[in-house]
Amino acid sequence: MLKPCIVLGLLILLCALVAVGQQNQTAQQAATPQTSNIPASAVNQPNPVKPTPESIALGKKYYGYDCAMCHGATGDGKGEVAVDEKLKIGDFTDPATLKDKTDGELYYILKNGHDKMPAEPIRLKQDELWNLVNYVRSLAKK
Ligand code: HEC
Repeated sequence: MLKPCIVLGLLILLCALVAVGQQNQTAQQAATPQTSNIPASAVNQPNPVKPTPESIALGKKYYGYDCAMCHGATGDGKGEVAVDEKLKIGDFTDPATLKDKTDGELYYILKNGHDKMPAEPIRLKQDELWNLVNYVRSLAKK
């Protein structure tokens, strides 16, 4: 027969193990990176590059090299790679798609990547990324 204090001891041990397990779980959840978590400072960052025809033309050039294969030549989200890989991409020609996003958010997404979208930090300099933001904005049908 087990002595009551041993039974109690085992129970306490069991409780402690369960508690530690739960703690680990919460720690793991918190550590999972959240792609949609864009810092407020980035969201509120103003666009320093005016959407002049020059800026939009420069953005368009890079868009053709780096973005059209996924986002489509017209920005409709139906580029070759997107279709092949069944990527879900918003339609930039629909003004509603980016309506709730700030320029700062778009810049952050371009710079850091998002979900299946690769980041563009190495090849493009800061102003070039803003030109791309301006170009993407210009795709929305008025
Ligand atoms: C490999 C395919 C791919 C390439 C290349 C790519 N994107 Fe994306 N892009 C995506 C996907 C997929 C999403 C949607 C991610 C999501 O919403 O989670 C996305 C999202 C975006 C968004 C945010 C749209 C929204 O509704 O929030 C912008 C802006 C954007 N891309 C612009 C660009 C630009 C500009 C380039 C070129 C520098 C580019 N992307 C290159 C696949 C790509």
